[in-house]
Amino acid sequence: MKLLVTGGAGFIGSNFVRRAIRDELPGIEGAEILVLDALTYSGVRANLAPVEDDPRFEFVHGDIRDERLLDELFPRVDGVVHFAAESHVDRSVLDSGVFVETNVLGTQRLLDASLRHGVERFVHVSTDEVYGSIEEGEWDERFPLEPNSPYAASKAGSDLLARSYHRTHGLNLSITRCSNNYGPYHFPEKLIPLFTTNLLDGRRVPLYGTGENVRDWLHVDDHCRGIALVYAGGRPGEVYNIGGGTQLTNVEITERILELTGHDWSAVEHVADRKGHDLRYCVNIDKIAEELGYEPQVPFDAGLAEVVQWYRDRRDWWEPLKERAALDSAR
Ligand code: NAD
Ligand code: DAU
Repeated sequence: MKLLVTGGAGFIGSNFVRRAIRDELPGIEGAEILVLDALTYSGVRANLAPVEDDPRFEFVHGDIRDERLLDELFPRVDGVVHFAAESHVDRSVLDSGVFVETNVLGTQRLLDASLRHGVERFVHVSTDEVYGSIEEGEWDERFPLEPNSPYAASKAGSDLLARSYHRTHGLNLSITRCSNNYGPYHFPEKLIPLFTTNLLDGRRVPLYGTGENVRDWLHVDDHCRGIALVYAGGRPGEVYNIGGGTQLTNVEITERILELTGHDWSAVEHVADRKGHDLRYCVNIDKIAEELGYEPQVPFDAGLAEVVQWYRDRRDWWEPLKERAALDSAR
């Protein structure tokens, strides 16, 4: 079996690829992996260094919107796991154009190529942010989509397009909607890696608004195991929430990172709130648990401590990324 993994040089996609090649993902053991990635600002080739020389691994530098390239690659693969996206909410508030281009148009191009070339299976990696924000209770997969940020709206567009290709064309496709991931190789613009690397450098961290917003944090290993379970055993046309990590306010998670890096609240700078900031996310994971035997395995406190240690040890990975990001924003 050969899988096309789009966005395989990003945070979650590269975790999926490294672990697939090491046969750590249930149901897809032995799979060959072909990564297609445009290496945007968040795509980092070094994320794939641990598997670069494996004969089951291949990398193609290219864009998911490039139909000619897709027609070259699709005859060589059996299935698709689609991660590629613009993924950062704050960037979508500043400029949403590329979010529509990549997340909506790019997904449509992949879906059409899947039909043209008769791929056996397609998993579309969506997000819990498509549901919007929920003050209390949990979303199950039947909740309406009420995305609030341009990022979430573009992901909802791609999520619904993916569903339509099953309903209209019978494409063997399932959709996953996961909560907030954390783990190594997380680009240092998102809360956990940004706060950790700032604090390791003795710099302050920008907490938006009151810091009362709640996120459900899940280790990236658990997310990728869930995606593999859905690829191997999920029902066509179905959506599977993935989550079940640890719900924390941003104040609570900041406290933990301060403690792990040896700082106190004087390192926190209260800044203006994110526009349209979602208050709370919370997914119900009964469906994937009951149908596919999924449950999260990485305990949050141990997982977070390991991740902070990873950032301590891997300045070689994140320092150049932060330097490049600073140069880009100065332009
Ligand atoms: P990321 O930004 O780290 O990685 C995105 C990858 O996609 C990068 O390697 C980038 O180069 C690639 N890419 C972007 N545009 C492309 C294009 N046009 N053609 C080919 N490649 C392109 O993102 P991530 O955090 O790893 O998220 C991966 C997926 O998981 C996204 O679809 C995201 O919406 C979804 N998701 C993320 C989270 C989270 O907490 N990070 C949670 C749930 C779902
Ligand atoms: O829920 C899944 C989503 O989680 C994914 O679909 C997105 O791709 C991913 O980026 C993430 O979105 P969030 O907006 O929840 O993650 P982020 O790390 O950007 O922010 C987490 C919380 O921390 C959010 O409430 C905003 C706040 N925050 C974030 C940053 C970057 C701050 O207070 N300060 C910051 O500097």
